[in-house]
Amino acid sequence: MAKTKSVYICSECGQQYPKWAGRCNSCGAWNTLEETLIQPKSHSVVNTAGRLSVSSIASLDFEDETRYQTGMSELDRVLGGGLVKGSLVLLGGDPGIGKSTLLLQICGSLGKDKSVLYISGEESERQIKLRAQRLSVDSKGLYISSCTDCDVIIQGINEHKPDVVIIDSIQTMQLSEIQSAPGSLVQVRECTQSFMQAAKSMDISIFLVGHVNKDGGIAGPKVLEHIVDTVLYFEGDKQLSYRILRAAKNRFGSTNEIGVFEMQDKGLAEVQNPSAMLLTGRPAGVSGISVLCTIEGTRPVLAEVQALVSKTAFTSPRRMSEGFDYNRLCVLLAVLEKRTGYSFGGFDVYINVIGGLKIDEPASDLAIALALFSGLCDKPIGDDVAVFGEVGLGGEIRAVSYIRERVREAERMGFTKCIVPKASLKNLDKSEKYGISIYGASNLRQAFKVLEMLGKDKEEE
Ligand code: TYD
Ligand code: MG
Repeated sequence: MAKTKSVYICSECGQQYPKWAGRCNSCGAWNTLEETLIQPKSHSVVNTAGRLSVSSIASLDFEDETRYQTGMSELDRVLGGGLVKGSLVLLGGDPGIGKSTLLLQICGSLGKDKSVLYISGEESERQIKLRAQRLSVDSKGLYISSCTDCDVIIQGINEHKPDVVIIDSIQTMQLSEIQSAPGSLVQVRECTQSFMQAAKSMDISIFLVGHVNKDGGIAGPKVLEHIVDTVLYFEGDKQLSYRILRAAKNRFGSTNEIGVFEMQDKGLAEVQNPSAMLLTGRPAGVSGISVLCTIEGTRPVLAEVQALVSKTAFTSPRRMSEGFDYNRLCVLLAVLEKRTGYSFGGFDVYINVIGGLKIDEPASDLAIALALFSGLCDKPIGDDVAVFGEVGLGGEIRAVSYIRERVREAERMGFTKCIVPKASLKNLDKSEKYGISIYGASNLRQAFKVLEMLGKDKEEE
């Protein structure tokens, strides 16, 4: 048997050292190296003789990956079209956001024709049963257990051979040969590695629940993300009922898709129409508000952007941004000042994207710029206007992709006007009829003019 050896592991970044040091050379953190006893395990995938086996890619013939439908189409889409057989998926999120609820709900539908094993290290079997009753989950194929010993669980999986396993949560799991406490970086990483091996060797899909720490990472920042196949984050404001599921990494699909859910008294319900959700409660006739049309994965989504521009009481004005990149906001303010002559120097600027949505698409620039302009001049943008376009450093509005999908979504949601990059107009099919007026603008000044013109039309009405 291999001898136990002592190593020093940085609790911040997971780097290993043979000797103790005051500072981690890899991440620069002080006093983070902890002594840990490890029994070296072989995680080898090459054959034991130590010879590498290679294959010509042309000679290999595998079937397409098998995917299970989880019964939640929002989750399936984020996974890239269903849960891949034999994959390890990490579901991260704040405590109480609804991770256990989501997974127990999919157990209900998966358990109808597959065998599913739900293992909780946090709740007793009684508690799981009560929750399942509340969620009306009573499938024959669903087995539950309360256990925290990683080796026992893997042995159990080997015996029962379920199709899908849920581990809730990875922070409660432990391997007895590792001395450190459950939830520590080493335990979390080694347990994840064991589950990864189990998933691959038995061809079983495993979901791991991971609680996010206060910095937003899953305990052992980033360390787990390298090991697993797919990383999903479940996000949302706990005060509000809406939850957004997004993929941060996906070996089997795109990471651009989002899934939208609403927490109700009988569990999570899918929100098929996120635009409607993100636009509810929009105040009418208030300045500093614009509606943007962004593409989340393959789906166009309308969202409300709010800008508050108010006289500053500080020597250097404040800039704050929620749901939109702070640096990008600073760039847009500089472009507005330099290219259009409107000065924000004496004003605090606050940006908020409604509904907990995080927008990082360049096409959202124009909506932010127009909300800022409207906030500064205290002139509302019409409630029936949607906008999108990328703003360049010269103040020009640049073409964006998916113009037709964006315009159609705005039309579907009852908007009657939209301001778009002039350069994108050529990508619209002239023969198609739209029930929405489309205004092209090639720079910020032109976009302001369109707003003014629409404002005047409104007054005349
Ligand atoms: P939970 O799934 O336990 O969160 P996590 O596993 O991410 O820690 O969700 C807990 C919250 O969800 C709790 O505040 C109660 C709420 N909830 C509902 O509103 N409706 C329900 O049907 C359920 C089961 C939970
Ligand atoms: Mg939970």
